[in-house]
Amino acid sequence: MSKKKLRSQEWYGRTGKDGFIYRSWMKNQGLPHHLFEGEKPVIGICNTWSEFTPCNAHFKELAESLKQGIWEAGGFPLEFPVMSLGECSIKPTAMLFRNLASMDVEESIRANPMDGVVLMCGCDKTTPSLVMGAASVDLPTMVISGGPMLVGRFKGRKIGTSDIWRLAEDFKMGRISQEEMIEAEAAMSRSRGSCAPMGTASTMAAMVESLGLSLPDNATIPAADSRRKVLAHMTGIRIVEMVKEDMKMSKILTRKAFENSIMVNAALGGSTNFILHLTAIAKRIGVEIDLTDFDHFSAKIPLIANVQPSGEYWVEDLFYAGGLPAVMREIESALHRDEITANGKTIGENISKAECYDRELIGTMEKPIKPDSGIAVLKGNLCPSGAVIKPSAATPGLLTHTGKAVVFETIDDFKAKVDDPNLDVDENSVLVLKNVGPKGYPGMPEVGNMTLPKKILEKGIKDMVRISDGRMSGTGFGTVVLHVSPESAIGGPLALVQDGDMIELNVPNRTLNLLISDEEFEKRKAAFKPLELPYDRGYVNLFLDRVNQAHDGVDFDFLQGSSGSEVKRDSH
Ligand code: FES
Ligand code: MG
Repeated sequence: MSKKKLRSQEWYGRTGKDGFIYRSWMKNQGLPHHLFEGEKPVIGICNTWSEFTPCNAHFKELAESLKQGIWEAGGFPLEFPVMSLGECSIKPTAMLFRNLASMDVEESIRANPMDGVVLMCGCDKTTPSLVMGAASVDLPTMVISGGPMLVGRFKGRKIGTSDIWRLAEDFKMGRISQEEMIEAEAAMSRSRGSCAPMGTASTMAAMVESLGLSLPDNATIPAADSRRKVLAHMTGIRIVEMVKEDMKMSKILTRKAFENSIMVNAALGGSTNFILHLTAIAKRIGVEIDLTDFDHFSAKIPLIANVQPSGEYWVEDLFYAGGLPAVMREIESALHRDEITANGKTIGENISKAECYDRELIGTMEKPIKPDSGIAVLKGNLCPSGAVIKPSAATPGLLTHTGKAVVFETIDDFKAKVDDPNLDVDENSVLVLKNVGPKGYPGMPEVGNMTLPKKILEKGIKDMVRISDGRMSGTGFGTVVLHVSPESAIGGPLALVQDGDMIELNVPNRTLNLLISDEEFEKRKAAFKPLELPYDRGYVNLFLDRVNQAHDGVDFDFLQGSSGSEVKRDSH
């Protein structure tokens, strides 16, 4: 292979004053001069370690394994921190800051002397923010995820994040005490790693694996398993080779790779958040995908993995059953097998030897876990730019349903009214929550799977049709229509719904309609007043000004596309 001058030599390979400045302070870390002579590719390790992001708290240790691999392969690792978004800690929602973190990542990669980069991703938003930022620079890039937690045990039963929603109902109904809740907290989070079900974190880890940005098995090796460190070590070795091969992200992230990822997500029953993040990543790298692609490519694929919240088991179990390669092998006939991946092999080559060790965990195309999977994209007068629902996590009987709207104008209105015994609601009602979209909340929080009114729960009812312009946790379930676009805060039709209106959901036909006359619809539209959005400074002000709607991935309009990796001017 002809040797290309390394990008990092634009800094370290200079003579005189400039070279002195770029190298001298680096040497205060005890780094010998030969490291700067252009023989060893500089590999940035983009680390989202933070003690406020517990799901990524083991990343300092994991980074050491990466570094060993990079050194072994003749590279020069340099680790750097970026904004870390802990789903469980950040208010009002980590999604508000996904784009901010992606800007941090993009500028940190471009501005620094690195030839390739490894993205250390774990908790939900830490994956899309890093991949989005890196895609806008387009260096050779790999992802290593932190891995899922070991499954917890509480009172003899297995417990993971999906159980929060069940425990919350039990607590609301007085079936479980505060003391028991505290015990359950510790039982659930018994090991390092991200959420144990196929929530957004594992959905994102599977997304990068199916796109080809990581080594095989990245999605499922448990965080606490020593093989996770081996994977990091091997990732370190491979990224150095990728730099030598000049294998940039854009060579991997083709339209067909995105199609593969949509099909794999369907097979997994992955999070609805996948839609927003994959759309945003595609727009960064310049691949055209839209909501209809999610429906179209999902429709071919049944639910193959029996993992919560769509199925019964956990990501840890899925690893023992053969992991993501075994799931992908079952849908191989639908996948684009020739897509190249980070290890230099095709998807087809990567999964050719994968085996299923447990049919309870991994179904087949002929005998799937469930016939319905993936994501259904709805259209209608209530969501002209689309809305989404995850049929595999819904109640089959409610997928075709017409009911009377019970409207909550804001999240505060919902909290104040939902358990009011006088609320005019029954199990056939449709709960409508407004102003939880990208601008309305702001940040599009995971409140779409509203807990049911107490008086409904008391009847033993477990699900109702719920509609909002917000999101749902990847661990959530129910007949929940999400991402209604355009959102209510900017005058989307959801804003026009009133108590008592009839709403018709028909998932087989992919429709969602408000059953009022056109005349009444227009009258309400004319009377609409936008929500007051009381933010006049700082990042939130920028967010409100420039954020796109859900169907466009909730990215900032000015961040779509790439600025490449070149920086023309020096710092002194
Ligand atoms: Fe971090 Fe679930 S809260 S992965
Ligand atoms: Mg989540």
